[in-house]
Amino acid sequence: MAKIIDGKKISQEIKAELKEKVAVLKAAGKTGALAVIQVGEDPASSVYVRNKKNACAYIGIESLAYELPESTTEAELLKLIEELNQKEEVKGILVQLPLPGHICEDKVIQAISPKKDVDGFHPQSVGAMTIGEKGFLSCTPAGIIQLLKRSDVDMEGKHCVVIGRSNIVGKPMALLMLRENATVTIAHSRTKNLPELCKQADILIVAIGKPRFIGAEYVKEGAVVIDVGIHRNENNKLCGDVKFDEVESIASAITPVPGGVGPMTIAMLMSNCVQSIEED
Ligand code: GUN
Repeated sequence: MAKIIDGKKISQEIKAELKEKVAVLKAAGKTGALAVIQVGEDPASSVYVRNKKNACAYIGIESLAYELPESTTEAELLKLIEELNQKEEVKGILVQLPLPGHICEDKVIQAISPKKDVDGFHPQSVGAMTIGEKGFLSCTPAGIIQLLKRSDVDMEGKHCVVIGRSNIVGKPMALLMLRENATVTIAHSRTKNLPELCKQADILIVAIGKPRFIGAEYVKEGAVVIDVGIHRNENNKLCGDVKFDEVESIASAITPVPGGVGPMTIAMLMSNCVQSIEED
């Protein structure tokens, strides 16, 4: 039976460490706020935004909420971002994605000052990560690296297969695993012989976006399996991209859904906010 990698517990440890760091920074006169912008009322986004505000309160940094109507224009949103870029006390700016269809996400991401880009989505942040320079790391992939490190999973020289090539998970995930000296393969929806390829992985990171897609036939005995997916099944219960019940008996370690990768994303967002306050 696989060891369950407890993301909830590990994220709590990280947030407790950050809370102490924030207290030390405060005593030295260093404070700052995270601006959280949501456009429209997508229910999933509302849950994420609430969790992010709660995490700020827990570690002791201020959050400024901007809940804008669905009808907000791109120009209005860009103007708000520019104001927040100029505001001294704002050390991080987060625009919750997805945005309504009439707003160009790339334009919005690029409007955020790289100094305040705590999501790590700005091309400058992505470029810095790619060449190993300092900058904000994309939160979900950075959270997965922390999960592996804090669970004593050795990455050096291991074959890591990442399924998914999105800009916010798959691509940065592959680069961060490379930084840890893993041998990395990126697979995606057009990859041929996906089960055979995945079966070669020592570490399998699944961000395919399809509920319960990965079963036993994709997993090598003793592999470490990280499930980035989050979906609601027909009974309104949360599930991942992996058939947990099938894979648990084959893997050596596996993340559950919920309570695996999800809480780590927020912990790493908080880590980026603290980094921003520290470096300013
Ligand atoms: N939507 C889904 N994941 C994320 C994330 O990590 N950051 C933001 N801003 N929006 C998201």
